[in-house]
Amino acid sequence: MSSLPETIRQTLTTFHQQPLLQALQSLPVPDQHRLLEQIQTVDFQMLRDTWRAALTDTPSEHAVHRPAQARAPHNVVRQPVSASDSDAWAQAIRTGEQALQNGQVAVITVAGGQGTRLGFEHPKGMFPIGPVTNRTLFQVFAEQILARRRRHHAAIPWLIMTSDATHQETVRFFESQSYFGLEPASVVFFQQGSLPALDAATGQLLLASPTELALSPDGHGGLIMALQNAGLLTRLHDEGVRHLFYHQVDNPTAIVADPALIGFHSLHQSQLTTSVVCKDSPTERMGVLVDIEGHTEIIEYSELTPEEAARHDDSGQWIFWAGNTAIHVFDLAFLQGLTGKGRQLPLHVARKNVPWVNADGVLVQPNDPNRPNAIKLERFIFDALPMATRTLIIEGDRAREFNPVKNKSGKDSAETSQAALNRIGHLWLQQAGCAVPANSVVEISPLQALDAPELQQRLASGQLQLSDIATRTPQA
Ligand code: UD1
Repeated sequence: MSSLPETIRQTLTTFHQQPLLQALQSLPVPDQHRLLEQIQTVDFQMLRDTWRAALTDTPSEHAVHRPAQARAPHNVVRQPVSASDSDAWAQAIRTGEQALQNGQVAVITVAGGQGTRLGFEHPKGMFPIGPVTNRTLFQVFAEQILARRRRHHAAIPWLIMTSDATHQETVRFFESQSYFGLEPASVVFFQQGSLPALDAATGQLLLASPTELALSPDGHGGLIMALQNAGLLTRLHDEGVRHLFYHQVDNPTAIVADPALIGFHSLHQSQLTTSVVCKDSPTERMGVLVDIEGHTEIIEYSELTPEEAARHDDSGQWIFWAGNTAIHVFDLAFLQGLTGKGRQLPLHVARKNVPWVNADGVLVQPNDPNRPNAIKLERFIFDALPMATRTLIIEGDRAREFNPVKNKSGKDSAETSQAALNRIGHLWLQQAGCAVPANSVVEISPLQALDAPELQQRLASGQLQLSDIATRTPQA
């Protein structure tokens, strides 16, 4: 037995965390230190409120009515079809390029997720995705950023958000790859926070070991506090950055620092711009952009029944068409405003099986998928949408820009994503007037070309030879 700070004893007693108090008291003093440190960061009031709300399993009035109140979003810039649309896109691209050139843009890659669905044992950014060379997702983004820096003669800082689960391995990987040719100082790794897992039935905090709480990353919505805590919001502001291009680590065909998106965002003085694509079916697992009572919001696929997801409005328009690609542009000042007191993004609850250490110090491995033992908590970055007064939605070209790797097989797997990279490679070569066998697999490095016109120009000028492009013929 040891003496604990009285405030800790009181807090744990007030919030009915006696098992944790006992576990703490049973530890020798040197071992108490780590656990105490973790406990001191916990907001017990917030956890209790969230657990109680989850216990009754009754969604709030607001949540129940959201799908019925939702309308197809109104402020959408669709893909160009007319000449005047093309003029508007061209103007946006020029504006975005100017912002890049003026050093007003930084890129944020969120790479803190544990990639459980993919079943890959390393940070997802290390996943080999190049259909010929196996270049990793991180390399694809690094090369895009390097190519953009060269094209626009701009710094374009790259901020990579990691979590406790992915940080060390990610940093070591970049070091081992010499930052893929980027200046190390121009790549900033910063770590998101974590939140404790709670026993679903009792609301007790679970232990991962006798001296550690069971923690998990606080969701991509942890971005705002993580940027703030690392001093990055101020630093970017001081460096003249105004727009933050945000994307997920899982989509190698995202156009990183896309001038069109940045340009529209800037021209419309938007605080939060989102790239969407038309969902391929009502049940596709994508969040959807909608208008609810004058605000743009995202409804997650899990919040809609199949019948709701297929609903049309009176004019026959599909309401839930605008799939969230999770590519956004944030106004830096808007994000800074969200760090103020009382402006925290809400918590979302997920029921999961979480291994835990019981009062006898034994590790328990729950495995009933129908009765998960724990609740995990996360914040979602897109919950910032209703907090913005000026938002904008831009429709992207789905085949070109949205080919994520999420699952081991089937839809949104390595196979479909690699097929997309190969398809895009063939298309660009065809547009450049180059013939390659239809059955060959092609992979164009972003350093060779960021788009079809660049490939055409570089091949035509002799800066690049067709033989420089990675190809392979699949074995029969
Ligand atoms: C996400 C979106 C969905 C969108 C889809 C597009 C959510 C809740 N939903 O779904 O609206 O249509 O992408 O592909 O996000 N991450 C962190 N830290 C975390 C958790 C996640 O950095 O704590 C990162 C992951 O590394 C990944 C991204 O966030 O880059 C997406 O997370 P994931 O949980 O896979 O989202 P999806 O369910 O695919």
